[in-house]
Amino acid sequence: MSRVDAIAQDGAENSATDFGHPLDVNALDLSHNVILYLDNITVSFDGFKALNKLSLSIDAGELRCIIGPNGAGKTTMMDVITGKTRPDRGKAFFGQTLDLTHMSEPEIAHAGIGRKFQKPTIFENHTVFENLELAMKTDKRVRSSLFSTLNDETRDRIADTLQVIRLNSQAERPAGLLSHGQKQWLEIGMLLMQGPKLLLLDEPVAGMTDDETARTGELFKSLAGKHSLVVVEHDMAFIEQLGGKVTVLHEGSVLAEGDLATVQNDPRVIEVYLGR
Ligand SMILES: Nc1ncnc2c1ncn2[C@@H]1O[C@H](COP(=O)(O)OP(=O)(O)O)[C@@H](O)[C@H]1O
Ligand SMILES: [Mg+2]
Repeated sequence: MSRVDAIAQDGAENSATDFGHPLDVNALDLSHNVILYLDNITVSFDGFKALNKLSLSIDAGELRCIIGPNGAGKTTMMDVITGKTRPDRGKAFFGQTLDLTHMSEPEIAHAGIGRKFQKPTIFENHTVFENLELAMKTDKRVRSSLFSTLNDETRDRIADTLQVIRLNSQAERPAGLLSHGQKQWLEIGMLLMQGPKLLLLDEPVAGMTDDETARTGELFKSLAGKHSLVVVEHDMAFIEQLGGKVTVLHEGSVLAEGDLATVQNDPRVIEVYLGR
C-alpha cells in the first residue's frame, strides 16, 4: 500500500464512527449574513483572563484583520473558535445556529472552519499535487473518493486549487523543495480542498519575503467573498493591502474596530500597540 492510500485508509477508519452525524455543513445558517459571532467570551488560565468578555462579529465573505500586542488573546480567540479551548463563559456562533462551544474540534472542522498554523503540516516527500489529493482524501465529507481512483472531478478541483495558490508549475515537485512562502500557500491549498466556509490564519506572512507577502495578500483578497477570513497579523503594510476592517484586541477584549486608518489614529491603540 502506498503512503497516500495508507493515510486515506487511516482517515476512513477514524471516520467510521461519525456516519450520520447531525452536524452537517449544510446546517450552516447565514440568513443574517453573519458567519461568526462571539458573544461575551471569557477564558481564564489560573485566574488570568486571556479573553475578557470578548464580543466580535464577522460577516459572511468578510476579510477581517485582528491586531494587538503580544498576549492580547488573539491566538486564544482562535483556540476558542476551533474548539481547542473551552471558554468559561460566553457563546461562539457559527452562522445563526451552531454553538461552537458545544462542539468538538473534529465537528467544528467538519462544519467548515479551517485553521492554518504557522508551521506548515505538509507531506514533504510527496508532490504538491499529492498533498492536495491527500487533503481531500482525509476530508471525511468526500468519503466515497477514498475507495475510488482519482476521478475527473477531483482532478479538476486540484487543478483549480493549484491555480488559486499559483503552484501550477510546481505540481509535480516534492513539497519539501518549495520555498517557505510556497509551502505556506500549499498548506492554504490543502485547507481549501476541504471547502471551508471560514478560514483562520494566525500570522500567515511571518518569515515571508516582501514579494511572497504581497502575493499572499492577493491570494486572500481573491478568497474573500466565497470564503470568510480572519487574519491575525502584525505586518501593517500587509494589513493595508488586505484593505478590510481591522479589530484591535487588548487584554482579551476589543479595544477598537474600523478601517485601518481609523484604528491607527485612535489614541488608545497608539498607546497600547502602535506607539511602542
Ligand atoms: N494554555 C495557557 N496557559 C496559561 N496561559 C496561557 C495559555 N495560553 C495563553 N495564555 C496566556 O494568555 C494570554 C494571551 O495569549 P495569546 O492568546 O497567545 O496572545 P496573542 O496570540 O495575542 O499573543 C497570554 O498572557 C498568554 O501567556
Ligand atoms: Mg498569538
